Amino acid sequence: MYLFYSLKKAAATLVAGCFLATAQPVNAQVITIPVETAHHAFLLQVDGEKNLSTVYFGKKLADAKEYNEVAAMHKSSADYSGQLNSAYTTAGSRNLAEPAIAVTHADGNMSLDLKYVSHQLTKVDEDVALLTVNLKDPVYDVEVTLYYKSYFKEDVVEQWSAIKNLEKGNISLQKFASANLYVQAKSYWLRQYHGDWAKEMQPEEKELSHGIKVLDSKLGSRANLFQPSVFMISIDKPASEDEGTVLYGSLEWSGNFRIDLEVDPQDNLRIIAGINNYASPYLLKAGEEFTTPPFLYTLSDKGKGEASRKLQRWAREYKLLDGKGSRLTLLNNWEATAFGFNESKLKELLKDTKTLGVDLFLLDDGWFGNKFPRNDDHAGLGDWQENVKKLPNGIASLVKEAQNTGVKFGIWIEPEMVNPQSELYKKHPDWVVKQAGRPEYYFRNQLVLDLANPKVQDFVYSIVDSLFIKSPNLAYIKWDCNAVIYNAYSTFLKKDQSRFYVEYVRGLYKVLQRIRTKYPSVPMMLCSGGGGRVDYGALQYFTEFWPSDNTDPLERIFMQWEYSYFYPAMATANHVTDWGKQPLKFRVDVAMMGRLGFDIVISKLAGNDLAFCQDAVKNYNSLKPVIWQGDQYRLSDPVTESVAAVMYVDTTKTSAVIFNYLVNNRYGRGNRLPIKLKGLDPAKRYSLKEINLYPGSSSPMDGKKTYSGDFLMTVGFDPGISTNKTSAVVQLTEAK
Ligand code: GLA
Repeated sequence: MYLFYSLKKAAATLVAGCFLATAQPVNAQVITIPVETAHHAFLLQVDGEKNLSTVYFGKKLADAKEYNEVAAMHKSSADYSGQLNSAYTTAGSRNLAEPAIAVTHADGNMSLDLKYVSHQLTKVDEDVALLTVNLKDPVYDVEVTLYYKSYFKEDVVEQWSAIKNLEKGNISLQKFASANLYVQAKSYWLRQYHGDWAKEMQPEEKELSHGIKVLDSKLGSRANLFQPSVFMISIDKPASEDEGTVLYGSLEWSGNFRIDLEVDPQDNLRIIAGINNYASPYLLKAGEEFTTPPFLYTLSDKGKGEASRKLQRWAREYKLLDGKGSRLTLLNNWEATAFGFNESKLKELLKDTKTLGVDLFLLDDGWFGNKFPRNDDHAGLGDWQENVKKLPNGIASLVKEAQNTGVKFGIWIEPEMVNPQSELYKKHPDWVVKQAGRPEYYFRNQLVLDLANPKVQDFVYSIVDSLFIKSPNLAYIKWDCNAVIYNAYSTFLKKDQSRFYVEYVRGLYKVLQRIRTKYPSVPMMLCSGGGGRVDYGALQYFTEFWPSDNTDPLERIFMQWEYSYFYPAMATANHVTDWGKQPLKFRVDVAMMGRLGFDIVISKLAGNDLAFCQDAVKNYNSLKPVIWQGDQYRLSDPVTESVAAVMYVDTTKTSAVIFNYLVNNRYGRGNRLPIKLKGLDPAKRYSLKEINLYPGSSSPMDGKKTYSGDFLMTVGFDPGISTNKTSAVVQLTEAK
């Protein structure tokens, strides 16, 4: 007999705000456990032998009872092991495919088999439910709990596991994935990303063939430098912006990750995602439990655009720090001065910040170190005292000066790092990640501090804490991380070296947690020599991230486009710099598509440039709500079209903004066809007005004319992009 239990029914049995819906009896022969969100579902099933498998993954069925009929409709080739669709595949028993978990027991035995024990559904609130499934090895005292946290409205699920050693001795986890998904379809199209410094988020899309494709990182700290953990799988055919079924996945972990994408002998896709087990067999002592980080995914059957809007909404609502709050526009001095500044120059820059009209001045690298002054990137990291030559009156006086000038003050730190040319390195060589007896190998002339060591955690915490103690009005932190981990070795961990990569990230999170306990909402930018460390594990502590040091606006159009599939605009820090060959207007227009900042010499702006920037900041201030909290639609793809267009629509569909750019100027190209808008109310009428006009230029757009949403979405509008006008920002307002 099938015992069926649906979330809806569970909800009906709940009293408001309470939890622990029910526990299922284990005597039923087959138990079916659906995890449903607004549009999608997956189904776990326990067979008579207590094996837990995935029997459905896809669009939600109208009649939940019919999930039970799914398995019988699939004609698969033989699964000799009976394990291909295991919900958490074990190694060393019957399984023949890639495992999610592999264990060496206290007695040296390497087999594991996990049987269903019980499950519980907790309804956290109207939107969120948590399913836990308890599994146990019948032979060895190892227990695993699988967690499935579902966000109903957003169609997002987070999955993770907890592995408990109840044996008398220590066990070793050889593999310890967070999630093990199973998708049945004709074909699977992977969109993955690769990059390097200043070349982040380059997409590649290919059909997966049989065998295992691995996305991974072994870099330790700046883990995403070559490859982030975000990916997409289009199901049956490559999804477009508005059509096709697509799954977005990502691991919420700021260190080594590993995602196995295995097309199995039955042509189904097994996705196993978690912390990378590379150099990390994790020693779990008797009685200890290991909790893996969440693997996050969302599914859409209406293309990539919808999937990204769901993920962005989820991020703002549940994960990104202060996702419903505000952000600060800023003037940064990195591109403008690099290390070459002093107090009087900074005072001038504070005035420039005020003149420009942005909220905050961000002092970048180079303000610290005395015995080993930070005058270039060879020295000083680790010595977080103000350089007395550059800043004789310290940071606190600059923060006060900023206040007097009417702006806020923020500061750059890179607290996990040390230059061998530093007092810290000489004083605490045992805090540094390096191998005694082997030559040191540097990344940007620096080494990584051992965050597995609680003393180092205290030190890193104190860097931030003492900045705020000295300057309570400090308003912003840019947290950088410019080196990968070479010669991984922790003096603190002694013989437990295989814990290092995991404990490093846990140490980092402990520090960030402490910071957030004391300073819950101060804005912090997550930077890693560009976008070398962007993930939702970190973004729960950060308000925004730095996508790349590459601020060439043309490159940024492509890069921001790809990032936007996974991260909301309000979290994406975009600065206007002198990179690239585009006119100032183009650079400012591109930077406005996220959290706007400037990193140019304001006092040297020629002619009308300053007036243009000041006007753009005012425009941005009025557009902020829709860019930060609105729904984002990608209208015209820079890879396939000569014009790129991206639109943000507020949730009431009364205002919107469209950014348009020429990305290919061969043969005098521009937009030949009108740009079709999306996300509007077809019945409403809208006026379109071009803003961010450079002084002296005019727009052919008649701001008094109105068009229906239907017209704008069916026919479109002409942003007038050509080689004479390479970018246009168009504000759309409901005409009443
Ligand atoms: C990294 C960051 C830059 C800048 C420099 C300072 O490269 O990505 O934005 O802060 O460090 O050294």
